[in-house]
Amino acid sequence: MPSEDAAPRLDVDQILADPGVRIVVCCGAGGVGKTTTAAALALRAAEQHGRRTVVLTIDPARRLAQSLGLTELDNTPRRVKGIDVEASGGELHAMMLDMKRTFDDVVLQHTDPAKAAEIFANPFYQAMSSTFAGTQEYMAMEKLGQLHARGEWDLIVVDTPPSRSALDFLDAPARLSRFLDGRMLRLLLAPARTGGRSMFSFVTASFGMFSKVVQKVLGAQLLTDLSGFVAALDSMFGGFRQRAEQTYRILQARETAFLLVAAPESDAVREAAYFAGRLHEERMPLAGLVLNRVHRPVVRLDAAESLAAADRLVELGGHAATVDVLRAHAALARQAVREQQVAARFTEAFPTVPAVSVTAQPADVHDVDGLRTIGAAISRP
Ligand SMILES: Nc1ncnc2c1ncn2[C@@H]1O[C@H](COP(=O)(O)OP(=O)(O)OP(=O)(O)O)[C@@H](O)[C@H]1O
Ligand SMILES: [Mg+2]
Repeated sequence: MPSEDAAPRLDVDQILADPGVRIVVCCGAGGVGKTTTAAALALRAAEQHGRRTVVLTIDPARRLAQSLGLTELDNTPRRVKGIDVEASGGELHAMMLDMKRTFDDVVLQHTDPAKAAEIFANPFYQAMSSTFAGTQEYMAMEKLGQLHARGEWDLIVVDTPPSRSALDFLDAPARLSRFLDGRMLRLLLAPARTGGRSMFSFVTASFGMFSKVVQKVLGAQLLTDLSGFVAALDSMFGGFRQRAEQTYRILQARETAFLLVAAPESDAVREAAYFAGRLHEERMPLAGLVLNRVHRPVVRLDAAESLAAADRLVELGGHAATVDVLRAHAALARQAVREQQVAARFTEAFPTVPAVSVTAQPADVHDVDGLRTIGAAISRP
């Protein structure tokens, strides 16, 4: 049974046009089309629904970034030119997340410039702001909070980082704020008072993720740097936590719509189902599932019929090219059925979550025309 027939149809235009919806978050497993979907929806919101829209992209492919006029990471939204907004009066602004600059900005907001300069120079800060697992997710949330606070846009469309697991986006901020919360750091400080050696082994164990940096700063400098880092962050804990909590509340609000993006593959659909469960637990509003890159045969001929026709044609000494086409069609028809079965697993688990399918395009989506096509496909499947 085709999953979209069973699930209610997701009406993306209704979401994009709704003035009550101020944030759309596109999430899902790695490589399923989150960035593409986010950019396509933002473009559609501006062109078709006249909304003043900003899209926060994360690591967009170079060509896509270029087509949105994003040639450098400058961490602030730029207006996208050359789109068709004359009739609608909408606007599209786009930006790429610069994780480190966002972290730097947060530090600057919570401390004076001299202290900030000290923090920036600290190797532990440098490691954490550029490599800590979860920093990208946390900074995406931080940036969303900032854009929302500016109140300049009708609609903010958020892409999420290319995590292995879709859940990382929800978990990372908590993990990071736990870290910043000081429990772990207080533990680190305790052995520091007792002497260098235990401190060293403890640090090496706890900061496994920073191992390279730890090696680089080995020696007397280590303690000084780490204590400096801890002391500096200590003064900012409250601010960090408060901001994370604020953004979390925004994500739970009615103005937010989560869209789960999945490819019609077992892993991606399983990920999507986990994520849907988590959103429900966190009381975050799931608007629907976008099943991206599905294959649809253009003619109504199932795999068996197609293969039978090919065999018959061979018997009759028919045209070889036609036989090939029939066989290729049979393979496509079989894949379409497989994809529907995979997608049906999600719908069985979440029968009330609206869904929509987007056909796999013949080529990658890397320009405004391509985004427009995807936007139209999501809206009129
Ligand atoms: N419907 C589609 N048809 C054809 N190609 C697509 C479609 N959707 C996305 N793509 C292509 O698939 C690739 C991955 O898409 P995208 O970058 O949007 O995925 P992502 O979920 O953001 O990945 P990551 O998790 O790495 O951030 C891109 O090259 C994009 O152009
Ligand atoms: Mg992406």
